[in-house]
Amino acid sequence: MTQIEITPEMTDVQSTGKQVYVETYGCQMNLADTEIVLSVLNKEGFASTDQIEGADLVLLNTCSIRDNAEQRIHHRLANIAHHKKKNPELVVGLLGCMAERMRKDLLTDDSIVDIVVGPDQYRVLPELVSEARHGEKGLAVKLSRVETYDDITPMRTEGISAWISVMRGCDKFCTYCVVPFTRGRERSRSLRSIVDEVKYLSDHGFREVTLLGQNVNSYLWEGKDFADLLSAAAAVDPLIRIRYTTSHPQDMSDKLIETMAEWPNICNYIHLPVQSGSNRVLELMNRTYTVDHYMERIEKIRELIPDVALSTDIIAGFPTETEEDHQGTLEVMSRVRYDGAYMFKYSPRERTKAWAMGDDVPDEVKTRRLQEIIELQNSISAEKNQSHLGKTFEVLVEGPSKRDPLEWKGRTGENHVVIFPRSDVDPGEYINVKVDRATSATLIGTEVDEGGRRKVIPLDTLAI
Ligand code: 5AD
Ligand code: SF4
Repeated sequence: MTQIEITPEMTDVQSTGKQVYVETYGCQMNLADTEIVLSVLNKEGFASTDQIEGADLVLLNTCSIRDNAEQRIHHRLANIAHHKKKNPELVVGLLGCMAERMRKDLLTDDSIVDIVVGPDQYRVLPELVSEARHGEKGLAVKLSRVETYDDITPMRTEGISAWISVMRGCDKFCTYCVVPFTRGRERSRSLRSIVDEVKYLSDHGFREVTLLGQNVNSYLWEGKDFADLLSAAAAVDPLIRIRYTTSHPQDMSDKLIETMAEWPNICNYIHLPVQSGSNRVLELMNRTYTVDHYMERIEKIRELIPDVALSTDIIAGFPTETEEDHQGTLEVMSRVRYDGAYMFKYSPRERTKAWAMGDDVPDEVKTRRLQEIIELQNSISAEKNQSHLGKTFEVLVEGPSKRDPLEWKGRTGENHVVIFPRSDVDPGEYINVKVDRATSATLIGTEVDEGGRRKVIPLDTLAI
């Protein structure tokens, strides 16, 4: 769920008393899109609320990547039906990938959904909402070759971290993936507008920016590639950490790795989805690289950025996957020793090429293979975390930890979460923390070398 606080500076219109409640599912692109949607609606007088009761408009920003993501939305809609019964005026909208994929199938007579809006059509939301308030259901799902919402300032949650979408869509057509059908063709935002946004965020006290795209390293704008964009973003402010996600191993160029090595404020963390450790399966997936190519890229990354942290995505049970293919995946994991991984059971998606390959790996086999993958990763993560004992990391302070307000939480450039006893630090400050203990998910430590703190302007003196 997204909670947005609207401050006078963020809104340039008077609220009309109408309230919008948004729930966001799926990837970070959706979280960034929700901020665009809130900005578009705010201009029409909608204030954001974190309470569904009392809202005039309820939006679900949805994900289609696997079937279970869509099932969650169907269940949620059944639940929202109770709210609509109590308040028949309530307008319910479905946004995002599921809207684009299922289109008018979501607008049947007995459905509580009033409007269905795909990822490239958020500008027409106010019009559709207004028609829906007069009882007319609405659909806007056309994909665009040019839309980047370049001119819309996202309505961000207060804090120290922000996302910036730098490109939209994907042209890779991995055979299992629905994204090219729900988010359309690849298109990049202008470099200037992205750098201006980093500058704006830096001026407003943000300390961390994640550049987002389905496939960021194919970013291209007037001859400038993703490495050029990264260095331009990093040059804005040495106190702003730059992160990015997601990359494709085929586009992980030497220039990009060299750029990361060169700039201290580009975080030493790369999410590089491998998907499978079998060349045969990688080919069927249309991933366009081999295990050897992938390993060669990992070696290059580690050669230029020795303390880099790496994470990945893995799919278990792709059509025709054999025990040998599965062993190949476990082997790649053992060779790379990822710091973290997102691991999934294959889920067939209509319209994709893999859909036609059938779904011949039985569910219990998929489950067992996924379990083996998860267990291996958990043991590697735990070992890697133990290897950090005694090391000192520069930590960007985020604030109190959820579990215990006396403990504070921050993150290293390598994206490790670090817990430390509360001291007189402010969110957004950089401190050095020495690791004393570690679990498989978290590092626990104490602040050292207080004289070496990188003081920044306290956030409460800045207008956000
Ligand atoms: N089934 C399972 N996992 C999938 N992913 C994408 N499509 C599917 C699918 N049909 C995974 C990939 C991708 C991540 C975002 O989701 O690993 O990198
Ligand atoms: Fe999907 Fe492949 Fe594009 Fe990633 S690169 S969004 S997995 S098609």
